[in-house]
Amino acid sequence: MSAPKFIGLDTQYQTADGKLHKRVHLDGAASPLASAKALQTIQQLLPHYSSSHTNVHSAAHICTQALAWAHSTVLSCLGADPQTYTSIFTGSGTTAGINRVARGLAAARPERKVVLVSGMEHHANDLPHRQFGNQVEYIPLVGEDVHQGPIDVEECRALLERFSGQVNYLAFSAVSNVTGILNPITELTRLAHQHGAYVLVDGAQAVPHLRSQLSRDDATCEVDFFCFSGHKLYTPTSPGVLIAKQEVLENLSGQDLGGGSVEAVSFYDYQLLSHYPDKEQSGTPNIVGAVALAAVFQEFVDYGFDLIEQHDKELMQEMVDAMSTLPHIIIYGCTKSPRIGALAFNHELIDHGLLAAVLNDYYGIAVRNECFCAHPYVSSMMKQTLWQLDLSTVPESEQQAYINLKRGMVRASLSLYNTSADVEALIAALSDINGRIDSLRRHYDALPDGSYQHRDFAMDWRDYLSV
Ligand SMILES: Cc1ncc(COP(=O)(O)O)c(C=O)c1O
Repeated sequence: MSAPKFIGLDTQYQTADGKLHKRVHLDGAASPLASAKALQTIQQLLPHYSSSHTNVHSAAHICTQALAWAHSTVLSCLGADPQTYTSIFTGSGTTAGINRVARGLAAARPERKVVLVSGMEHHANDLPHRQFGNQVEYIPLVGEDVHQGPIDVEECRALLERFSGQVNYLAFSAVSNVTGILNPITELTRLAHQHGAYVLVDGAQAVPHLRSQLSRDDATCEVDFFCFSGHKLYTPTSPGVLIAKQEVLENLSGQDLGGGSVEAVSFYDYQLLSHYPDKEQSGTPNIVGAVALAAVFQEFVDYGFDLIEQHDKELMQEMVDAMSTLPHIIIYGCTKSPRIGALAFNHELIDHGLLAAVLNDYYGIAVRNECFCAHPYVSSMMKQTLWQLDLSTVPESEQQAYINLKRGMVRASLSLYNTSADVEALIAALSDINGRIDSLRRHYDALPDGSYQHRDFAMDWRDYLSV
């Protein structure tokens, strides 16, 4: 089976020195390039586009059946037994699925007020749990400051014992979107279940890189809820996915209600459908996006997640090794912990905003900077740096802007289409920047939000898109 193909690898952008650069996309943790399979599936389906939930005419039959196929394909790609789990396509990405679970579990078990959330979460897997009257307790990570590793299982055990009988559920990511560090899902799940707590795993950064196996021989290691985003699996315009254990979902209220999920409705009563996933899937779903997502996922499974994981891990190791040799570079997260996908770093002498801007404006390399929607985690890894900031010479009215310049990191993230050449381009650019940063700095203004703006180079998106 040939490797999946992607759209946009040959796209060129003009840089500040007037050159044309082929795009180097090291921002796949936010949104990777689109897969060719996604486009092909969308193009195949669009001439038949219609509504779902009926087989009454030919086009509707195709859409309805294709959508049902998408539901079951996503389950099988995740190694989730359809007798145990169901798949729900959500309106937005991972965020929607997590909010659905948080709302439902709070209503289902109001006597259990405590939710354990790891200290490395994206806001999408933190803020929803702070709502609905929950008491959120944060599970510490192994290690300190810059060197923090995965979730500390013993600390989690201690919290479960301290709040014995009160913990509703544990929420944590399989892989961090900041450091790419992997968490011990099996151990944490078994532990949570021993204490009667459910487990919600944010799989947004894991699904594109690792083989998933939700159903296990030992059911105590099976997570109860698993969420991910279709767009992070190379399928822009696709929905988010919530995988849920049917027996747990059964007791959850708080779903969206409307057409499509009901058996019978009278003025003062209604009855939901009895079968999954339809009873959880109100409204007209994103049929085209869901089918494209399932087609891409199936293509990845057929190609082999072992190959994907090997590629993504080896490339990450190359990047960590090469970056470790560069002067002034700080790598965040324990460098001995297994990691995949994302790598956050800083340059001791260059603000994150300036470095990210220069990489784009002069080298055509797309990275991300700031706090990656994981402010508490990023701040905890930068605690010492931020404490050491000398604000004594900065006027009070400018102090927040100054902190914004310093509080943040640069993140390079790797996807299946990235190659050693991309890593080499990043390393070469970082080395080159070391030698010319003072002259580059003169072209930029620092803005109060922590970003940097080039004085005489700006791109016009309309040069690239005629809408
Ligand atoms: C780990 C993690 N969780 C959740 C999200 C939110 O995903 P979405 O914006 O697709 O809902 C992201 C997005 O970056 C993420 O990396």
